[in-house]
Amino acid sequence: MSNKVRKAVFPAAGLGTRFLPATKSSPKEMLTLVDKPLIQYSVEEAVASGVESILIITGRDKSSMEDHFDVSFELEQVLKERGKDELLRVVRAVADMAKISYTRQGEALGLGHAIYQAKGFAADEPFAALLPDDIIDAGKPALKQMIEVFEKYDAPVIATMQIDGEAISRFGVIDADEVEPNVYRIKDMVEKPAFADARSDLAIIGRYIFTPDIFEAIERTPPGAGGEIQITDAMRLLLKDRPFYAVKLDGVRHDAGDKLGFLIATVEFALKREDLGEDFRKYLKSLKI
Ligand code: G1P
Repeated sequence: MSNKVRKAVFPAAGLGTRFLPATKSSPKEMLTLVDKPLIQYSVEEAVASGVESILIITGRDKSSMEDHFDVSFELEQVLKERGKDELLRVVRAVADMAKISYTRQGEALGLGHAIYQAKGFAADEPFAALLPDDIIDAGKPALKQMIEVFEKYDAPVIATMQIDGEAISRFGVIDADEVEPNVYRIKDMVEKPAFADARSDLAIIGRYIFTPDIFEAIERTPPGAGGEIQITDAMRLLLKDRPFYAVKLDGVRHDAGDKLGFLIATVEFALKREDLGEDFRKYLKSLKI
């Protein structure tokens, strides 16, 4: 069994109800931050972290994602004819990024159920799972930060960040001991606890590195919060049999699945762009707010 994290799964079968009507017939993962669809940000993060093979878990009305990562012969032909070499490079790079396959979740029965669809794909290797709503803006890619901890401790790793106040109850929450700066050994975890019951301010962020024993744990997991099969509950079961670690990510997380989070991410990313940042900053400063 290879102990390198070469594979990654992207659950992308959700209905995107927080973004209706935009997501009525097109996937939430294709919403655009500046000029790139959401899902491309985390695919790029995975590739920059050493991932070679990707499985996207999709559902109905998601085919534009497959088209996006495929070769667009006609578009490339036109760009070539018009001498638009830079755009041609950008378009080609999307198609060449990684080996991507797709599977359908069928019923949306929760994140644990979505990740279970990767059982055959992962086979006997460790694998990463990335939730495309969570955009992590970091110097060293977030997944890379986690892979380093995975290789050191040889155990599953989840991403965590500190969340202040009542907002913590919108996340999975861990109870953990810090074993070195920003690395924790997990003692317990709970999906979306009430604020009063949260054992810490350390939230689970949508990046995971699993070992193949997670699948058997998912099989044993009954429906939890919201009647869904929660990955947090499956990890909690597995925690009885093996250690789990968490890495406090060095970076900024944006919840791009939420309207306000999406707007904030758009502004932050636009300000960082060499071709747009300066003009956009000028415009923002001119606003009388
Ligand atoms: C999922 C996980 C949760 C985690 C969150 C991070 O929840 O179940 O543990 O904290 O992602 O974004 P969701 O936001 O899909 O409800």
